[in-house]
Amino acid sequence: MTNSKPDEKTLELHKVYASDSPERTAEIYDGWAEEYEEHMRGSGYSHPAMVAAMLARHQPAGGDPVLDAGAGTGIMGEILIALGYPNMHGFDASKGMLALATAKDIYRELRPGLLGQRLDYDDGAFAATVASGVFTQGHAPLDGLDEIIRVTRPGGHIVFSISRSYLGETFETKARALEEAGKWRRVGASARYNSTPLGEDVLLSQVFAFEVV
Ligand SMILES: C[S@@+](CC[C@H](N)C(=O)[O-])C[C@H]1O[C@@H](n2cnc3c(N)ncnc32)[C@H](O)[C@@H]1O
Repeated sequence: MTNSKPDEKTLELHKVYASDSPERTAEIYDGWAEEYEEHMRGSGYSHPAMVAAMLARHQPAGGDPVLDAGAGTGIMGEILIALGYPNMHGFDASKGMLALATAKDIYRELRPGLLGQRLDYDDGAFAATVASGVFTQGHAPLDGLDEIIRVTRPGGHIVFSISRSYLGETFETKARALEEAGKWRRVGASARYNSTPLGEDVLLSQVFAFEVV
C-alpha cells in the first residue's frame, strides 16, 4: 500500500524497492549512506524500535553475542546496547553503510555479507539475530532466513521486520515451510504498523519473533 509519489525522505528507499540485484541495492545504499539516518529519522522510521521491543520480550539481555543482519549504519546496535545486549556483531551488503556503523565504534565486529548467500559465520555462533528493515522488496530474499537460522543457536531468537510485497502469504508460506522442517517455531508477532509514519507513503510492516529449534 504506497502512494505513487514518494516524498524526499523515502525516495531512496523507493529506488531500492525497484532494484533487481544485490549489487544495485548495495550501490544505492552506498550513495545514500551519509544522508540515510537523517532521512529515515525524518520519516519516523519505526522498525528499529519495533524489533528491539520484540527482542527484549523474548531474549534475555546479557553478554551473549547478538547478530545484526543488514546492520546498515548501526541504529540497532545503538538501541540494543542501551537495552543490555553489549556483544553486538553485524554485517551488511553496503560498504558505505558499514563504514558509518564502524565509525560509531560500538559493534564488536562488522563485516560485509549478503543475505541470499552463505554467511561467513559458524553454525550457532549467535544467541540471537535481528534484522530491521532488511526483509522487504529489493532488499534481502526470504531465503536469507535459512542462513540466519543456521548461525543462531538452538533456543535463541530471531527477530525481524517484514514489509511490502513480502507481508502476508509470501512470508507466511516461507515461515510455515521452515516450521514444518523443524527449523524454528513462532513465538511472537506484532500488529501491522506503518514503518515510516511521518513520510507521505504508508509502508505497511510487521515484526516477528521465532525461536530456533
Ligand atoms: C532500510 S536499511 C536498514 C538498516 C538498519 N538495519 C536499520 O534498521 O537502520 C536496509 C539495509 O539492508 C542492507 N541490505 C539490503 N539487501 C541486503 C542483503 N541481501 N544482504 C545484506 N544486507 C542487505 C542494505 O545495505 C541496508 O543497509
